[in-house]
Amino acid sequence: MIIRKFAALAAGAAALTLTAGSAVAEDTVEVLHWWTSGGEASALNVLKEDLEKKGVTWQDMPVAGGGGSEAMTALRARVTAGNAPTAVQMLGFDIIDWASEGAVANLNDVAEEEGWADVVPAALQNFSKYDGNWIASPVNVHSTNWVWINKAALDAAGGKAPETWEELIAVLDKMKENGITPLAHGGQPWQDATVFEAVVLSLGNDFYKAALNDLDPEALGSDKMKEAFDRMTKLRSYVDDNFSGRDWNLASAMVIEGQGGMQMMGDWAKGEFLKAGKKPGEDFVCIRFPGTQGSVTFNSDQFVMFKVGEDKQAAQKMMASAVMNPEFQSAFNVVKGSVPARTDVSDEAFDDCGKKGMKDLAEANEAGALFGSMAHGHGAPAAVKNAINDVVTQHFNGELSSEEAVEELVNAVEAAQ
Ligand code: BGC
Repeated sequence: MIIRKFAALAAGAAALTLTAGSAVAEDTVEVLHWWTSGGEASALNVLKEDLEKKGVTWQDMPVAGGGGSEAMTALRARVTAGNAPTAVQMLGFDIIDWASEGAVANLNDVAEEEGWADVVPAALQNFSKYDGNWIASPVNVHSTNWVWINKAALDAAGGKAPETWEELIAVLDKMKENGITPLAHGGQPWQDATVFEAVVLSLGNDFYKAALNDLDPEALGSDKMKEAFDRMTKLRSYVDDNFSGRDWNLASAMVIEGQGGMQMMGDWAKGEFLKAGKKPGEDFVCIRFPGTQGSVTFNSDQFVMFKVGEDKQAAQKMMASAVMNPEFQSAFNVVKGSVPARTDVSDEAFDDCGKKGMKDLAEANEAGALFGSMAHGHGAPAAVKNAINDVVTQHFNGELSSEEAVEELVNAVEAAQ
């Protein structure tokens, strides 16, 4: 069925090509993305090669910068100049923003023919559809409340993976005594915010939802929020002197090499460990951020097709379809560190962390413990996200006390809405 579909789309693409007479341009997709680290590039290659096998030529437009802010700035410039890329990697509320501007293509034909509605969970469909129409194809589900620990460093610190905040602090203290940087971290607003949202989640599901999804001023201004900032201050004491501005994958490398004890980061970090030949359970350990077991903060990378002319539509649809292919979703996500965006993909090819990721996601979804990641575009629109990131970063860098940060947070979120 899926193979027949590709053949039909390929024939469509070829027909269009013949009409217009320019073989290369029309079967080409120009893809804007921010997958530039080693692990990310390996995953990207899986997609690129898959498309090339189907006769679609890949034109790469990488924009470095974890979390994608720089990519979104580049996208705005391209669209403003009247030169939108064919396909764009995008997160959550950004998808909805672009759809509301009328800039994106409708994927209903391919979605209906392939039954996406039956296999894409509702939490993702909220961001793949706008006004009842499919406007994005989800390639994965990442989650952000993970900790990646060097196994030898953990063994040297007593060997037990921490399950509570107190146990986490005890392990970090031990790692400090052992002479390594306990917390490998890159001081960039989105990375600070990734740690912050895990800390907020560790103080309760209801608290996370009220503060970072519902933007409830009471939760944002609460004593619990002060506690979250106090915990950030504590975590700040475990990073090295050179953390400022460090890219996330360099922080992963510190843990891979054993100079760093652990990294608090989404599961794209696993892609770096795998790329370095490291094995879960042997070289590194993956745990949920202590106190967040059973809950998941998620983000999903989706591909959005821009309105770039009819001659490009066949190639766009082929790409949207290829991204949703179940075998592809397995092959890609095994390398990326994420889990499939479809519920009907087996976990067989996944390592233990991937299997855990799939199980945690399904269970959290069942239990009402699945929440959009604020740091990665699934909590609120970009203006709010950026306002929160700024406060979190200023506080992490010691420019605001916890009390001041709470007050600033309430004001910044209100002003950004
Ligand atoms: C994306 C991931 C990416 C990570 C670091 C996240 O927002 O969802 O795909 O690997 O940023 O760049």
